[in-house]
Amino acid sequence: MNTHPSDIPVPGPARFDDELEAWVLTSYADVRAALREPRLTASGARGGGDLDRAGHLEFRAAAAAAAAGMLDGWPAGLEPAARDMARALPAERPVDLVSELAGPWSAEVAKRLLCPGSDMARMATLAGEVFAAAAEPGDEALQARAAQATLELARAFSGELAAFHVQAFVALSETLPCFLANAWLALLNDPASAAMLRAEPGLMAAAIEELLRHSGPARAQFRRATGEVALGGVTIAQGGRVALMLAAANRDPEQFPEPDRLDFGRGAARHLAFGDGPHACIGGALVRAAAAAATAGFIECFAGAHLQGPVEWRGGFAIRAPASLLVSR
Ligand code: HEM
Repeated sequence: MNTHPSDIPVPGPARFDDELEAWVLTSYADVRAALREPRLTASGARGGGDLDRAGHLEFRAAAAAAAAGMLDGWPAGLEPAARDMARALPAERPVDLVSELAGPWSAEVAKRLLCPGSDMARMATLAGEVFAAAAEPGDEALQARAAQATLELARAFSGELAAFHVQAFVALSETLPCFLANAWLALLNDPASAAMLRAEPGLMAAAIEELLRHSGPARAQFRRATGEVALGGVTIAQGGRVALMLAAANRDPEQFPEPDRLDFGRGAARHLAFGDGPHACIGGALVRAAAAAATAGFIECFAGAHLQGPVEWRGGFAIRAPASLLVSR
């Protein structure tokens, strides 16, 4: 089975990893407590986390209002557009669900919601560079390239919210298709759940929540301790680095019994796929709406499709998803 990349760690006690030079937290309780711990500051590639506390609260308030505005102004044609894209794919040859459906549809969502500058090809290249750095936070060359790409992307947006619009553009055009690819892989590997969703479209919201838990693309976030922190039975010294393993926490059997199994009825909304606490994702509602629309198209046309060949993965330590999903019907 391809649903569970073997390197999602099994949840257990906190341990220090010499290679990462970080405490690694994997259990649901430890990861959630760390996400809510104010003395562990966000030190990832996402802009919001790097602001001081007062600036960060302002950033969040403005970004949340902008995201709510995008949801209110959700273009009526987006749902049918997802279905039409899925229906237009040929049945007589294998289809790559990543490059032919998840990717182009996510690009369309990013374009319609954010209306960036006209050079979408350049914007997509830049977004790819920012995403690559977020997916592999330990790679300094990628971080340097992403810093340049972020500056160039910001010029496509105007006003005080340019930084948020860059994040939103990268998240919609890059991270959203990663989630769709992970989620659809899980459904391809579990035809009974896919068939259930096809028979009962009213399950879609619960299914998206469970797919976020089971197959969310964000696997890890890093934090740095601004003071001594006791967590998970260990003491993290001031300045210490911590890796919060979101995907592992979302498969913690103490929180989610039989965690590798898809169960649309389990009430998975407490998952940590969007983080938690002061840096929790601001785009969750947009992702849920966008994923539900695209997954409805996928389910209608590909619920019983078969995967062709083994899955190769893209991304890195922090974000990972299938590079392609070749299927036949
Ligand atoms: C499937 C897609 C997405 C996933 C898996 C995801 C995941 C996450 C996670 C795990 C965090 C927490 C980071 C931390 O704890 O340091 C986060 C933060 C954030 N996300 Fe998302 N996200 C997605 C899409 C979006 C979208 C579409 C937007 C905007 C429209 C967005 C905007 C943000 C912002 C602004 C933050 C930073 C919040 C802060 O630092 O206060 N995300 N996201």
